[in-house]
Amino acid sequence: MSNRARTCPALSQLFAADLTDPKSLLPAFDGVGQVFLYAHHEGVHGVIAAARTAGVERIVLMSSGSVIHPSSRGNAITEEHREVEEAFRAASDLMVVPIRPLVLATNALGWASPIKTSGRLPVYQPDALTAPVHERDIAAVAVAALLGNDDATGLLAGPARISQRDQAHAIADATGRDIAVDGLTREAALARFARFMPPVEAEAVLQFLDDAAAGNSPATDTVEGILGRPASGFDVWAADHAADFSVS
Ligand SMILES: NC(=O)c1ccc[n+]([C@@H]2O[C@H](COP(=O)([O-])OP(=O)(O)OC[C@H]3O[C@@H](n4cnc5c(N)ncnc54)[C@H](OP(=O)(O)O)[C@@H]3O)[C@@H](O)[C@H]2O)c1
Repeated sequence: MSNRARTCPALSQLFAADLTDPKSLLPAFDGVGQVFLYAHHEGVHGVIAAARTAGVERIVLMSSGSVIHPSSRGNAITEEHREVEEAFRAASDLMVVPIRPLVLATNALGWASPIKTSGRLPVYQPDALTAPVHERDIAAVAVAALLGNDDATGLLAGPARISQRDQAHAIADATGRDIAVDGLTREAALARFARFMPPVEAEAVLQFLDDAAAGNSPATDTVEGILGRPASGFDVWAADHAADFSVS
Protein backbone atom coordinates (compact mmCIF):
# COMPACT_ATOMS: atom_id res chain seq x y z
CA MET A 1 0.00 0.00 0.00
CA SER A 2 1.39 3.44 -0.85
CA ASN A 3 1.90 6.21 1.67
CA ARG A 4 -0.28 8.53 -0.37
CA ALA A 5 -3.08 10.07 1.66
CA ARG A 6 -6.54 8.81 0.82
CA THR A 7 -9.77 10.51 1.69
CA CYS A 8 -11.98 8.48 4.01
CA PRO A 9 -15.73 8.84 4.40
CA ALA A 10 -15.46 10.02 8.01
CA LEU A 11 -13.74 13.31 7.06
CA SER A 12 -10.38 11.84 7.95
CA GLN A 13 -7.32 10.89 5.95
CA LEU A 14 -5.78 7.44 5.91
CA PHE A 15 -2.01 6.90 5.74
CA ALA A 16 -0.11 3.62 5.57
CA ALA A 17 2.59 3.73 8.25
CA ASP A 18 5.08 1.30 9.72
CA LEU A 19 6.14 1.73 13.34
CA THR A 20 9.64 0.57 12.42
CA ASP A 21 9.95 3.19 9.64
CA PRO A 22 9.86 6.74 11.09
CA LYS A 23 9.67 8.33 7.63
CA SER A 24 6.34 6.63 7.06
CA LEU A 25 4.98 8.09 10.32
CA LEU A 26 5.66 11.74 9.55
CA PRO A 27 2.80 12.22 7.07
CA ALA A 28 0.43 10.53 9.52
CA PHE A 29 1.61 12.64 12.48
CA ASP A 30 1.78 15.94 10.59
CA GLY A 31 -0.67 18.46 12.03
CA VAL A 32 -2.11 15.93 14.48
CA GLY A 33 -2.35 16.92 18.15
CA GLN A 34 -3.32 13.59 19.71
CA VAL A 35 -2.09 10.16 18.65
CA PHE A 36 -3.16 6.66 19.65
CA LEU A 37 -0.20 4.35 19.22
CA TYR A 38 0.50 0.66 19.59
CA ALA A 39 3.58 -0.11 21.67
CA HIS A 40 6.11 -1.71 19.34
CA HIS A 41 9.57 -2.22 20.78
CA GLU A 42 11.36 -2.35 17.42
CA GLY A 43 11.94 1.20 16.22
CA VAL A 44 10.47 2.97 19.25
CA HIS A 45 13.16 5.67 19.21
CA GLY A 46 12.28 6.46 15.60
CA VAL A 47 8.62 6.80 16.59
CA ILE A 48 9.59 9.22 19.36
CA ALA A 49 11.73 11.28 16.97
CA ALA A 50 8.90 11.42 14.43
CA ALA A 51 6.41 12.54 17.10
CA ARG A 52 8.80 15.30 18.16
CA THR A 53 9.40 16.45 14.60
CA ALA A 54 5.67 16.61 13.93
CA GLY A 55 4.95 18.42 17.21
CA VAL A 56 2.53 15.80 18.52
CA GLU A 57 1.03 17.10 21.78
CA ARG A 58 -0.33 13.96 23.38
CA ILE A 59 0.21 10.24 22.82
CA VAL A 60 -1.98 7.48 24.20
CA LEU A 61 0.19 4.40 24.15
CA MET A 62 -1.48 0.99 23.94
CA SER A 63 0.85 -0.81 26.34
CA SER A 64 0.13 -3.86 28.50
CA GLY A 65 -1.15 -4.44 32.02
CA SER A 66 1.65 -6.96 32.41
CA VAL A 67 4.05 -4.02 32.90
CA ILE A 68 2.37 -3.24 36.25
CA HIS A 69 1.35 -6.83 37.11
CA PRO A 70 3.95 -8.24 39.51
CA SER A 71 3.76 -11.89 38.50
CA SER A 72 4.25 -11.04 34.80
CA ARG A 73 7.69 -9.55 35.41
CA GLY A 74 10.40 -11.13 33.22
CA ASN A 75 7.95 -12.44 30.64
CA ALA A 76 9.34 -11.52 27.18
CA ILE A 77 6.14 -9.77 26.04
CA THR A 78 6.00 -7.84 29.32
CA GLU A 79 9.58 -6.70 28.95
CA GLU A 80 9.04 -5.58 25.33
CA HIS A 81 6.18 -3.35 26.52
CA ARG A 82 8.24 -2.10 29.47
CA GLU A 83 11.06 -1.16 27.06
CA VAL A 84 8.61 0.95 25.03
CA GLU A 85 7.11 2.62 28.10
CA GLU A 86 10.57 3.43 29.43
CA ALA A 87 11.67 4.93 26.11
CA PHE A 88 8.62 7.21 26.11
CA ARG A 89 9.08 8.07 29.79
CA ALA A 90 12.65 9.14 29.03
CA ALA A 91 11.29 11.45 26.31
CA SER A 92 10.01 13.77 29.00
CA ASP A 93 9.14 16.54 26.53
CA LEU A 94 6.34 14.34 25.14
CA MET A 95 3.04 13.88 26.99
CA VAL A 96 2.41 10.14 26.99
CA VAL A 97 -0.42 8.25 28.71
CA PRO A 98 0.08 4.45 28.67
CA ILE A 99 -3.12 2.41 28.79
CA ARG A 100 -2.64 -1.11 30.04
CA PRO A 101 -5.00 -3.97 29.21
CA LEU A 102 -3.96 -7.35 30.57
CA VAL A 103 -5.96 -9.76 28.37
CA LEU A 104 -7.85 -8.69 25.25
CA ALA A 105 -11.11 -10.55 24.59
CA THR A 106 -10.16 -10.42 20.90
CA ASN A 107 -7.55 -13.12 21.60
CA ALA A 108 -10.50 -15.53 21.33
CA LEU A 109 -10.84 -14.65 17.64
CA GLY A 110 -7.90 -17.03 17.21
CA TRP A 111 -10.33 -19.81 18.12
CA ALA A 112 -12.69 -19.07 15.22
CA SER A 113 -11.03 -21.35 12.70
CA PRO A 114 -11.05 -24.60 14.75
CA ILE A 115 -14.54 -23.87 16.08
CA LYS A 116 -15.91 -23.29 12.60
CA THR A 117 -14.15 -26.21 10.96
CA SER A 118 -14.53 -28.88 13.64
CA GLY A 119 -16.66 -27.67 16.53
CA ARG A 120 -13.68 -28.55 18.75
CA LEU A 121 -11.37 -26.12 20.51
CA PRO A 122 -7.87 -27.20 21.55
CA VAL A 123 -6.55 -24.90 24.31
CA TYR A 124 -3.70 -24.88 26.78
CA GLN A 125 -4.80 -24.50 30.42
CA PRO A 126 -8.57 -24.68 29.67
CA ASP A 127 -9.46 -23.93 33.28
CA ALA A 128 -7.16 -20.92 33.65
CA LEU A 129 -9.16 -17.90 34.78
CA THR A 130 -8.66 -14.52 33.12
CA ALA A 131 -10.80 -11.39 32.84
CA PRO A 132 -10.74 -10.54 29.12
CA VAL A 133 -11.54 -6.93 28.30
CA HIS A 134 -13.82 -5.95 25.42
CA GLU A 135 -12.18 -3.87 22.67
CA ARG A 136 -15.10 -1.41 22.90
CA ASP A 137 -14.06 -0.67 26.48
CA ILE A 138 -10.42 -0.26 25.49
CA ALA A 139 -11.45 2.11 22.70
CA ALA A 140 -13.56 4.17 25.12
CA VAL A 141 -10.70 4.34 27.62
CA ALA A 142 -8.33 5.39 24.83
CA VAL A 143 -10.72 8.17 23.81
CA ALA A 144 -10.96 9.37 27.42
CA ALA A 145 -7.16 9.42 27.60
CA LEU A 146 -6.88 11.25 24.26
CA LEU A 147 -9.34 13.85 25.53
CA GLY A 148 -7.31 14.60 28.63
CA ASN A 149 -7.78 11.87 31.25
CA ASP A 150 -4.27 11.32 32.66
CA ASP A 151 -5.46 8.69 35.15
CA ALA A 152 -6.33 5.94 32.69
CA THR A 153 -3.09 4.05 33.36
CA GLY A 154 -4.33 1.33 35.75
CA LEU A 155 -4.61 -2.34 34.89
CA LEU A 156 -7.50 -2.72 32.43
CA ALA A 157 -9.41 -5.98 32.69
CA GLY A 158 -12.94 -7.23 32.33
CA PRO A 159 -15.39 -7.15 35.26
CA ALA A 160 -15.18 -10.89 36.08
CA ARG A 161 -12.86 -13.80 35.66
CA ILE A 162 -13.89 -16.65 33.40
CA SER A 163 -12.06 -19.83 32.42
CA GLN A 164 -11.08 -20.46 28.82
CA ARG A 165 -13.48 -23.43 28.91
CA ASP A 166 -16.36 -21.16 29.95
CA GLN A 167 -15.37 -18.61 27.31
CA ALA A 168 -15.89 -21.40 24.78
CA HIS A 169 -19.27 -22.13 26.40
CA ALA A 170 -20.21 -18.43 26.10
CA ILE A 171 -19.32 -18.58 22.40
CA ALA A 172 -21.39 -21.76 22.10
CA ASP A 173 -24.36 -19.99 23.73
CA ALA A 174 -23.95 -16.98 21.44
CA THR A 175 -23.73 -19.06 18.27
CA GLY A 176 -26.13 -21.86 19.19
CA ARG A 177 -23.60 -24.55 18.35
CA ASP A 178 -21.82 -27.13 20.49
CA ILE A 179 -18.11 -26.60 21.15
CA ALA A 180 -16.01 -29.35 22.70
CA VAL A 181 -12.92 -28.14 24.56
CA ASP A 182 -9.77 -30.28 24.38
CA GLY A 183 -6.77 -29.67 26.65
CA LEU A 184 -3.42 -29.15 24.91
CA THR A 185 -0.09 -30.17 26.38
CA ARG A 186 2.45 -27.36 26.87
CA GLU A 187 4.57 -28.78 24.06
CA ALA A 188 1.66 -28.92 21.62
CA ALA A 189 0.51 -25.42 22.61
CA LEU A 190 4.02 -24.01 22.12
CA ALA A 191 4.19 -25.52 18.63
CA ARG A 192 0.73 -24.12 17.82
CA PHE A 193 1.48 -20.53 18.97
CA ALA A 194 4.91 -20.60 17.32
CA ARG A 195 3.16 -20.94 13.96
CA PHE A 196 1.91 -17.35 14.41
CA MET A 197 4.60 -15.60 16.46
CA PRO A 198 8.32 -15.81 17.32
CA PRO A 199 9.10 -18.73 19.70
CA VAL A 200 10.07 -16.36 22.54
CA GLU A 201 6.63 -14.68 22.35
CA ALA A 202 4.88 -18.06 22.09
CA GLU A 203 6.65 -19.08 25.30
CA ALA A 204 5.57 -15.78 26.88
CA VAL A 205 1.91 -16.43 26.00
CA LEU A 206 2.15 -19.83 27.73
CA GLN A 207 3.71 -18.15 30.77
CA PHE A 208 0.72 -15.76 30.92
CA LEU A 209 -1.60 -18.79 30.84
CA ASP A 210 0.44 -20.61 33.50
CA ASP A 211 0.20 -17.48 35.65
CA ALA A 212 -3.57 -17.35 35.08
CA ALA A 213 -3.85 -21.03 35.99
CA ALA A 214 -2.06 -20.19 39.24
CA GLY A 215 -4.83 -17.67 39.98
CA ASN A 216 -2.88 -14.52 39.13
CA SER A 217 -4.93 -12.90 36.34
CA PRO A 218 -7.33 -10.49 38.07
CA ALA A 219 -10.58 -8.78 37.14
CA THR A 220 -10.49 -5.03 37.83
CA ASP A 221 -12.97 -2.15 38.02
CA THR A 222 -10.56 0.25 36.29
CA VAL A 223 -12.71 0.55 33.17
CA GLU A 224 -15.76 1.51 35.25
CA GLY A 225 -13.67 3.98 37.27
CA ILE A 226 -12.64 5.77 34.07
CA LEU A 227 -15.86 5.54 32.09
CA GLY A 228 -18.45 5.72 34.88
CA ARG A 229 -20.23 2.64 33.51
CA PRO A 230 -19.55 -1.06 33.98
CA ALA A 231 -17.17 -2.88 31.66
CA SER A 232 -18.65 -5.56 29.40
CA GLY A 233 -18.28 -9.19 30.36
CA PHE A 234 -17.14 -11.97 28.06
CA ASP A 235 -20.76 -13.03 27.42
CA VAL A 236 -21.40 -9.62 25.84
CA TRP A 237 -18.22 -9.94 23.78
CA ALA A 238 -19.27 -13.40 22.57
CA ALA A 239 -22.71 -12.12 21.57
CA ASP A 240 -21.13 -9.19 19.72
CA HIS A 241 -18.83 -11.57 17.86
CA ALA A 242 -21.19 -14.50 17.20
CA ALA A 243 -20.83 -13.99 13.44
CA ASP A 244 -17.05 -14.48 13.70
CA PHE A 245 -17.62 -18.03 14.97
CA SER A 246 -20.52 -18.97 12.71
CA VAL A 247 -20.27 -20.81 9.42
CA SER A 248 -22.17 -18.69 6.92
N1 LIG B 1 -3.60 -9.54 23.00
C1 LIG B 1 -3.59 -9.16 24.27
O1 LIG B 1 -4.13 -9.83 25.17
C2 LIG B 1 -2.90 -7.87 24.63
C3 LIG B 1 -2.73 -7.57 25.98
C4 LIG B 1 -2.13 -6.36 26.32
C5 LIG B 1 -1.74 -5.48 25.34
N2 LIG B 1 -1.91 -5.81 24.02
C6 LIG B 1 -1.48 -4.83 22.99
O2 LIG B 1 -2.56 -4.55 22.15
C7 LIG B 1 -2.12 -4.42 20.81
C8 LIG B 1 -3.04 -5.27 19.96
O3 LIG B 1 -2.89 -6.61 20.38
P1 LIG B 1 -3.33 -7.78 19.43
O4 LIG B 1 -3.27 -9.02 20.21
O5 LIG B 1 -4.59 -7.40 18.72
O6 LIG B 1 -2.13 -7.77 18.41
P2 LIG B 1 -2.04 -8.39 16.98
O7 LIG B 1 -3.23 -9.23 16.69
O8 LIG B 1 -0.68 -8.99 16.87
O9 LIG B 1 -2.13 -7.11 16.06
C9 LIG B 1 -1.07 -6.25 16.01
C10 LIG B 1 -1.41 -5.11 15.07
O10 LIG B 1 -0.25 -4.29 14.96
C11 LIG B 1 -0.01 -4.08 13.60
N3 LIG B 1 1.43 -3.99 13.42
C12 LIG B 1 2.37 -4.95 13.60
N4 LIG B 1 3.60 -4.48 13.31
C13 LIG B 1 3.42 -3.19 12.91
C14 LIG B 1 4.31 -2.18 12.46
N5 LIG B 1 5.64 -2.38 12.35
N6 LIG B 1 3.79 -0.98 12.12
C15 LIG B 1 2.46 -0.74 12.21
N7 LIG B 1 1.57 -1.66 12.65
C16 LIG B 1 2.06 -2.87 12.98
C17 LIG B 1 -0.56 -5.27 12.87
O11 LIG B 1 -0.87 -4.87 11.57
P3 LIG B 1 -1.12 -5.98 10.40
O12 LIG B 1 -2.44 -6.59 10.70
O13 LIG B 1 -1.09 -5.16 9.17
O14 LIG B 1 0.01 -6.95 10.52
C18 LIG B 1 -1.81 -5.57 13.69
O15 LIG B 1 -2.90 -4.78 13.25
C19 LIG B 1 -0.69 -4.90 20.72
O16 LIG B 1 0.11 -3.83 20.34
C20 LIG B 1 -0.35 -5.36 22.13
O17 LIG B 1 0.82 -4.71 22.51
C21 LIG B 1 -2.48 -6.98 23.65
